[in-house]
Amino acid sequence: MAIYAEKNAQGETLFILETEKSTYQMKADTNGYLLHLYYGDRIEREDTDYLLHKEDRGFGACPYDLGRNRTYSLDSIPQEYSAGGAGDFRTPCISAEFENGGRTLDLRYVSYKELEKKPALAGLPALYETEENKAQTLEICLKDSAEDLYVYLLYSVFEKEDIIARSCRVENRTGKQVALNAVLSACMDINEDSPLDLISFWGRHCMERNVERRPVAHGKTVIDSIRGTSSAQENPFVILCDPDTTEDFGRCWGLSFVYSGNFAATAEKNQLGLTRLTMGINPEGFRWNLQNGEVFQAPEAVFCYSPMGLTELSQKYHQIYRKNLCRGYWKDRRRPVLINNWEATYFGFDTEKLVAIAETAGKLGVELLVMDDGWFGKRDDDWSGLGDWKVNEKKLPGGMKALCDRINALGMKLGVWFEPEMVSEDSDLFRAHPDWFLHVPERGYSRSRYQLVLDYSRKEVRDNIHDQMAAVLSSANIEYVKWDMNRHLTEVWSAGLPADRQGEVYHRYMLGVYELMERLLTEFPHVLFEGCSSGGGRFDAGMLYYMPQSWCSDNTDAIERLEIQYGTSFGYPMSAVGAHVSASPNHQTGRRTPFYTRGVVAMAGTFGYELDLNTLTDEEREMVREQVAFYKKNYDTINRGDYYRLTDPAKNTEFCAWEFVAQDQKKALLFGVITHVRSNIAMPVIRLKGLKPQAKYRLLCKAEGVGNSEKAARALEGIYSGSLLMGAGLRIPNLRGDWPSFCVELEEVQ
Ligand code: DGJ
Repeated sequence: MAIYAEKNAQGETLFILETEKSTYQMKADTNGYLLHLYYGDRIEREDTDYLLHKEDRGFGACPYDLGRNRTYSLDSIPQEYSAGGAGDFRTPCISAEFENGGRTLDLRYVSYKELEKKPALAGLPALYETEENKAQTLEICLKDSAEDLYVYLLYSVFEKEDIIARSCRVENRTGKQVALNAVLSACMDINEDSPLDLISFWGRHCMERNVERRPVAHGKTVIDSIRGTSSAQENPFVILCDPDTTEDFGRCWGLSFVYSGNFAATAEKNQLGLTRLTMGINPEGFRWNLQNGEVFQAPEAVFCYSPMGLTELSQKYHQIYRKNLCRGYWKDRRRPVLINNWEATYFGFDTEKLVAIAETAGKLGVELLVMDDGWFGKRDDDWSGLGDWKVNEKKLPGGMKALCDRINALGMKLGVWFEPEMVSEDSDLFRAHPDWFLHVPERGYSRSRYQLVLDYSRKEVRDNIHDQMAAVLSSANIEYVKWDMNRHLTEVWSAGLPADRQGEVYHRYMLGVYELMERLLTEFPHVLFEGCSSGGGRFDAGMLYYMPQSWCSDNTDAIERLEIQYGTSFGYPMSAVGAHVSASPNHQTGRRTPFYTRGVVAMAGTFGYELDLNTLTDEEREMVREQVAFYKKNYDTINRGDYYRLTDPAKNTEFCAWEFVAQDQKKALLFGVITHVRSNIAMPVIRLKGLKPQAKYRLLCKAEGVGNSEKAARALEGIYSGSLLMGAGLRIPNLRGDWPSFCVELEEVQ
C-alpha cells in the first residue's frame, strides 16, 4: 500500500505516500491548511509535524480565523500548494483574480479520495500505468474559503520506482469568471534550514544541457523558459541535493516537468533558511480566463527521491520514462539504425543522391534513410517553402512513392523530415492565409531563420497541416518522421481569441501541438517519430510521450557531444538520445576526430550516421559495418540497461568514461575517450559500477589510436571478478593520437 491517510483525535488528516526508498508526508491540520511535512528517506509511519516552526515571527501574517494566535504564519510553515495573497509571501503555486479584481485566494482542505486508476490528463502528456508498474493515486480537494473555486491535487505513486507524479486541476463553480495568473504543477517545501544545492541544465544551440550546480541562496533562483518551448537555454528538469551529494552518495530530489512549452522552476530560500522548490507553466505570459463550470488542467511534474546519489536518481527517471511515458509500437522494439542526409547534402539532393547514400548504407547494415529538410515546396534554402508539404518533383521525380519504392527495394526504410509548426513568408500557405501565424496586428514581427510560427491554438491551422502531413504519410511507405521546430515564439497573439484571452495563447499553442501529434500517432501507429528543435531545443519529458527519441544536438562533434550527452543523461534515458556519426572535420567545430571515436560516442544513444558513406575510405566503411553490428548486438544493454556516468567531462579534462550494464548484469559496456593525450604518465584507474560482485566477467577490449594503442587496449583483456573491477578497477589504456577512444565489452562467464 503506497497511500495511507489517517484522521487523528484533533480532526487532522495525515497523508503518507510511500515508495520503496522514500516517504512523503502532508497534513490537513485543524485550521484546514494542507501542510507539507516531509519528503525524504523512507521512515516509519509517524507524524513529523513536531518539526513545524510554529512561533511568533516578527511581523508574520497570521490567518484571520486564528484570532489572536501569533504563532501560525503561512509564511514560515511548509505548504503543500500555496495560494498567493493571504500571508505566504513565497512563490505561490496558484494565483487567481476574481471579478472584483481581488487576488486573494485562501485554499482550505475539503476531502480526499483514492482513485482506482491513474487518470490520463486531458490533452496532455503524462505517465501511465502498466501491468508491471502500477501506480496508486491520491486526490486531495481544496477550496477557496470565500468562493467556490476548487483545486484538486493529484499524487500518483509508483512505489518500486520511487516516483511521485503530481498534477492539479482547478474547477470554477463560482458562477463567475476567474482569471488564473499562475497554476503551477508541484511544490516542495523542505522543512529544514540545512544548505542545499540546485542542479540545472542550461545551454544554447549546439551546446545543450550543461550541468550547473550552485548553492540555493536566499531569494529566488528561477530556471525558466518564455520561448514558447522548453528550450535549449534551460531544461524543465532540476535537482535539489545536499551539498555533499555525489553520483553514489547523498540525498537528492529530482523534479521533471512533463511539458514542452514555457515553464518555470523556482528554488527559493526564505528568511528562515527553508527551501521551496516549484515547477509549472511559467506564470510570465500566462493568464487563463476560467469561466464558470470550466476546468483548467495543469501538466504533470514528476518527483523522484534518492538517498543514494545522482546515478540512482537518473536511473530511476530513465526507467520510468522508458516504461511509463514512452508509448506505442516502437516503445519496446529495437529501433532502426539510421542514416540522415542533412550533413551529407543539406538542401542539395535529389532521388539519385539519396538512393546512392542509401545503397551504400544498406549494404553496411544501416536500416533507415531519413530524408531531411528540402524535399517539399520551394525549398532550396531556408528562405522559403515551410507550410507547403508537397513533394518537389524536380528533386524527387515521380514523387514520394517512387523514392520510397527504390529505398524499400534496397531493403531500407524511408523516413521524412517535417517542420509542421512553421511557415515561410514565401510559401503558398502563407499567401493563402497571411493571418495564420503568431503576430500582433499593426506591429512588426520577428523573423527567426526567416520563418514564422503557425498559430497552433487555432483548429483550422492544425487541420490544414494535419491534412497535408497525412496525405504525404499515406502516399508511400514512410516509416519514420523527424518532427523539427526551429524557432522560438515571439509576438504571441492569436487572431482566434479575444483581447482578454491572449494570455492563453502560449499554452493553447502547446495543447494544439500535442493534439496534432496524438492525431498523427493514432492514424499512423507504426511510424517512428523523432523530436528535434534546432538539435536538442525541445528535449523534455512531454515530447517523450509522443516521440521515444529526440535529436540531441545539432553539434555532432564527438568531443562536444561528450558534455552534451552527459548533461542529457541526468534526466532522460539514453534510448531517447539521437546521436550520429558525422564527417571529419566536423561541420560545427572543424575538429578532426577518428572514425572509431565518433562511433564510440554516437553509440550512447539511438545510433545513426549523418554523412555520405560514399565519401569514406574502404577501411572506414568496414568500420561502419562493425559499428552497426556491434550496436545491434548490444542494443538491449545500451537502450534498456543502466547507465553510469563515470567521469564529469567538464571537470575531468584527461578522459571521459561511461558504462552501460544490462538489466540482468550479465553484460556491460565500458566506453572511454582520452580527451588529453599526454606523454610519459601513469594512466588513471577507473572503477566500474553496477556489476555482480561475485560474478566473473570476460573482458574484450578494442581501441583506436596511433602507435601501440590497440595493443595497450588488448592488454586489458582477461577474466576478472565484478568485485575486482568495481573495487580495484581497470587502468585506462595508454592510447595515443588525437582523441583516441576505447570500448570494453564485459560478459559474465560461468
Ligand atoms: C535543424 C535540425 O536540428 C537539423 O538536424 C536539420 O534537420 C535542420 N534543422 C534542417 O533544417
